[in-house]
Amino acid sequence: MLEIKNLNISFVQGEKEANALRGISLSLKRNEVHSLVGESGSGKTVTSTCIMGLLPTPPGRINSGQIILNNQDLLLLEEKDQRQIRGKEIAMVFQEPARYLNPTLKVGDQITEMLILHLGMSNIEAVDRALEILELVGLEGGKRILDSYPHELSGGMKQRIMIAIAISCNPAFLIADEPTTALDVTLQLQILNLMLSLKNTLDMGILFISHDLRVVHDISDWVSVIYAGRIVESTSRKELFTNPKHPYTRLLLESIPDADKRGQRLQTIPGKVPDAENIPGGCAFHTRCPIAEDICKTDLPETKEVGSDNSGTSHTAACHFIGKQWKN
Ligand SMILES: Nc1ncnc2c1ncn2[C@@H]1O[C@H](COP(=O)(O)OP(=O)(O)OP(=O)(O)O)[C@@H](O)[C@H]1O
Ligand SMILES: [Mg+2]
Repeated sequence: MLEIKNLNISFVQGEKEANALRGISLSLKRNEVHSLVGESGSGKTVTSTCIMGLLPTPPGRINSGQIILNNQDLLLLEEKDQRQIRGKEIAMVFQEPARYLNPTLKVGDQITEMLILHLGMSNIEAVDRALEILELVGLEGGKRILDSYPHELSGGMKQRIMIAIAISCNPAFLIADEPTTALDVTLQLQILNLMLSLKNTLDMGILFISHDLRVVHDISDWVSVIYAGRIVESTSRKELFTNPKHPYTRLLLESIPDADKRGQRLQTIPGKVPDAENIPGGCAFHTRCPIAEDICKTDLPETKEVGSDNSGTSHTAACHFIGKQWKN
């Protein structure tokens, strides 16, 4: 299990402080997809970069929190030990592979580098393993692909290469920050299916970051909804989609375009996520919430168990008025 506990991160620039994460807790289990979903600016990428040890400090500052893997708090490890774990135990795929692949290095060298560095393989062993990994990520053409430079490959192929690099050391956990947003729908589906099959083959836990609830619905076991640096609701995929409790989640679900509602106006949630420098007091969502009352402007709602079924599935949400009707 990989556990993120009460992560609190701000960005400090001069006098200004932006509260990007205000107590994020998440746990990832092997062979499970845990999705983190929320609008732009809610803190998804800050969460993933911090887990990967890639948060620039400064301007970033970790005020509190733990990232526990194998009974160790990664945030307390020295940089060298963190780097060892990153890549080997926890790997990441990004939205834009082109930005993270080295344009001057052949694809093969980028994969074998990982194997040599983290697993201590010889060059020959690493090339053999790289060929196996290419097969795993569905790339045909073996040696020819290893001999290519990133610019010689298509967008979908580059994304597969980035996944290949990420999984090369057989990580226990994969952080995927909007890995398919830049791809067209067909490629998106292929990459999502690839990630699901790798999850099973490699027994990996995946943190899947997205703002697309349809994709989240298709891929997740567990879903956490993030708003202004806090998790507002967290439960199993089935519970979230059939029995959403937090008004923000309910509005997000209503905004999914429905195939049979074609022609109708798309629902979007009025307003936008507050800037991390200017988080409203009380419940940060109160400025956009259809059921907010005075207490929501002053008191931060606690995260509590709100599940109504008896299945024992945990279902938590942070709202003063869980279940309050606002229409129909
Ligand atoms: N380097 C930085 N310096 C200052 N503020 C930052 C920095 N990086 C992120 N932030 C702030 O932290 C908040 C969360 O940003 P983050 O990038 O995590 O959002 P996100 O959920 O990933 O959004 P998107 O869906 O657009 O990728 C935002 O208010 C952003 O302005
Ligand atoms: Mg992001």
